[in-house]
Amino acid sequence: MAFFIVLLGPPGAGKGTQAKLISQEMKLPHVSTGDLFRENLKQGTELGKLAKGYIDRGELVPDEVTLGMVYQRLSQPDCANGALMDGFPRTLAQADAFDSLLAKMGSQVNAVPYIHVSEQELVERLSGRLTCQAGGHVFHKKYNPPEDPERCDFDGSLLYQRDDDLPETVKNRISVFFQQTSPLIEYYRKQGKLIEINGMQTVDQVSVEVLKLLKEMKTE
Ligand code: AP5
Repeated sequence: MAFFIVLLGPPGAGKGTQAKLISQEMKLPHVSTGDLFRENLKQGTELGKLAKGYIDRGELVPDEVTLGMVYQRLSQPDCANGALMDGFPRTLAQADAFDSLLAKMGSQVNAVPYIHVSEQELVERLSGRLTCQAGGHVFHKKYNPPEDPERCDFDGSLLYQRDDDLPETVKNRISVFFQQTSPLIEYYRKQGKLIEINGMQTVDQVSVEVLKLLKEMKTE
């Protein structure tokens, strides 16, 4: 039986950080819509060019564009047994469309860990974030510093600050989350799938908590 996880949380809550660990432990592919857009941007595709303006302003890319990209990714064989969705769905329309797609595949969303963190902490985390160019690994100047401040510990590639981590864009991304994405908290709570996670703990404490709950849900 396929197992689909939706990782929910505001920008900077630690979704990407946790997703790397959860995907290894649960043996599920990590599908991050943000990473897919950035990969398209790097490759200079039409999709990447279209998404760039929205991402730079901290707005959401239109649903039909995002859905097309997600459907294509989920049709790949590695997603046959499920996936860990990071940053998708982000609107009620995306959540509805995702439910319909999974129903056609005879599957469903099984668990929705929602990582919550105070707004002040989100700004702090995003302003100090360092991202690696090759594998998208994330570090933090203060909370999770790489051994070499300029290079990724995992693949040695250069670290950079994302354009959308500039203070004005960060503010907008956080307000977009509260306006357009936070209704999903109730949406999944009503379905009995929401798992609330206190994100104001260390990375290790958060992963221990998330993994324990996910494993329980998988064996139920
Ligand atoms: P996306 O890339 O998905 O960005 P996001 O949701 O804003 O999330 P982030 O990647 O910024 O944060 P995160 O929660 O993953 O935190 P991280 O683990 O890195 O999307 C980017 C853009 O793409 C969107 O704005 C939109 O334009 C577009 N887009 C994407 N999906 C879309 C969709 N479905 N529909 C429409 N548009 C879409 O951690 C942050 C920092 O904190 C790091 O430095 C990390 O080291 C540190 N940290 C993590 N955990 C902890 C901890 N417990 N304690 C201390 N520090 C920590």
